[in-house]
Amino acid sequence: MSVDSLLTAEAVDPAFATLTPVHRASTAHGWWRSAVIYQIYPRSFRDLNGDGIGDLAGITAELPQLAELGVDAVWLSPFYRSPQRDAGYDVSDYCDVDPLFGRLVDFDALIAEANRLQLRVIADIVPNHCSDQHVAFQAAKAAPANSPERDMFIFRDGLGPEGTEPPNNWQSHFGGPAWTRITEPDRQPGQWYLHLFDSSQPDFNWHNPAVHAEFERVLRFWLDRGISGFRVDVAHALVKAPGLPDWGGRPDGNSTDGFPGQDAPMFGQPALHDIYRRWRSILEEYGPDRILCAEANVDPLPRLAQWVRHDEMHQAFNFPFLHAGLDVDRLRHIVTDSLVSLDAVGAPSTWVLSNHDVVRHASRFGYDGPGPRDGDGIGPSDPQPNEQLGRRRAAAATMFMLGLPGGAYLYQGEELGLPDSTSIPGSLRQDPAFARTGGARIGRDGCRVPLPWRSSEMHAGFGAGRDPWLPLPESWSNLARDKQQADPASHLNLYREMLAQRSTLQLGRGSLAWVEDYCSHTSLGYLNGSTLVVMNVGTEPMPLPEGEVLLRSSAADRNDPLGSGETIWLITS
Ligand code: GLC
Ligand code: CA
Repeated sequence: MSVDSLLTAEAVDPAFATLTPVHRASTAHGWWRSAVIYQIYPRSFRDLNGDGIGDLAGITAELPQLAELGVDAVWLSPFYRSPQRDAGYDVSDYCDVDPLFGRLVDFDALIAEANRLQLRVIADIVPNHCSDQHVAFQAAKAAPANSPERDMFIFRDGLGPEGTEPPNNWQSHFGGPAWTRITEPDRQPGQWYLHLFDSSQPDFNWHNPAVHAEFERVLRFWLDRGISGFRVDVAHALVKAPGLPDWGGRPDGNSTDGFPGQDAPMFGQPALHDIYRRWRSILEEYGPDRILCAEANVDPLPRLAQWVRHDEMHQAFNFPFLHAGLDVDRLRHIVTDSLVSLDAVGAPSTWVLSNHDVVRHASRFGYDGPGPRDGDGIGPSDPQPNEQLGRRRAAAATMFMLGLPGGAYLYQGEELGLPDSTSIPGSLRQDPAFARTGGARIGRDGCRVPLPWRSSEMHAGFGAGRDPWLPLPESWSNLARDKQQADPASHLNLYREMLAQRSTLQLGRGSLAWVEDYCSHTSLGYLNGSTLVVMNVGTEPMPLPEGEVLLRSSAADRNDPLGSGETIWLITS
């Protein structure tokens, strides 16, 4: 179907001769359709009790700053009880707060403050696996093979005469085999259990109704406490293909471009959709405002659209957009494909550039040649990004993103223009990917470094006490929030203005038509309502059309041509 045939001429601004309309403004209800949701990584946000690790009370204390920034909601990465082998994505009790972060009363206080500020709160839920310290896994290990306790997880006998070989060839995402052999209660080497991630993260068996029941209980526990929904961790992995067949593609299930192979037996199984339909119906018991967002690394976009049909999830992260970098041909294709595929099922797109699993976009864009591989981090001996260049382009890319119709996710610290910290010594690194690959993969610690709040305070105001769990680079006191607040030309103030304009102009509910006059192999231009957004990633300055400049991503003069690595929002006259 041609995109042009989707829309009629009345949606088109007559000021431009060459428009390619893609998406109409939405009138559908739902706060999340256009929301800007800010990801908080609790251990690195703000340490109020000075033990070196961020906490819930620290989040509550700084929530007014986020309201002031202009976001609509926050998403909290896991704060549940956990041995913290994968920074909290290894949960040992889904219905309690880890003492590292506080207590349940601190969570309730956080919700109360968010309500006062009219911010919604979304929590992470981790249903694919738990911690090996979870009571259910401890019980499974203590029980015999084929018992109901073992059936909560994926236990199998090993291959070979002595069962010494793993049951299949699957590999863990963090390196090494996806299976670990246990010692049985009688001290004999025994069965193997599946873990798509670290060996401390056993996968649940979603063919067992008891697992479904347990997670329904968890959903209700947090919904009852006032949260607005869930970000569902590795949502595409819960159900494995019957028989757990060997996988002939890349052993971690990904295809060569980093996305899961279409037929990988550990991903994207049809039965997943029934699980999320059931979850959706539970959320709807609480009214129309509670949402589910899938972390589903599913490609291509029409396939991802199946995750957000009217009775399934509300949103899914748009990882193809994140991975497109600044390649404008790819970006154009992905933006078009996202809007068209998602329009077909009545869902909005989401947009995202950074999170706690990838190199921050201010660092990814700081290379002239190919940058780091996503998820692998930048170490001290790798080629280093150019900070100025990276931050300039990051501002341009974010302005391109926040002009698009749909919802958007921001990752804590990107509003300060933070780069990755690339100088963390190996001895302090905590991402299991680093240890499991003997350091061959640097891992994700660089994007998880604590935030600088107040330049003149100890640890740049992250916490007054013990050293933060990962060191803040010294230069980050210059990027501290208080310094940026005082500087009208700062990255932080650009974010604040972008969010304010986006809300005033209702860009999240708007339309999109490519303006061919401004689209080339090094630039993209689109109209959202009467706002023209142009991004230039080429080396030549671009002349601008007549109009009122609302915002530009660098401190350049409003009437200068659009420089390299710059984006502009203007109202055409
Ligand atoms: C998701 C999380 C990541 C975690 C993994 C295992 O991808 O975003 O941080 O390591 O799941 O739970
Ligand atoms: Ca703390």
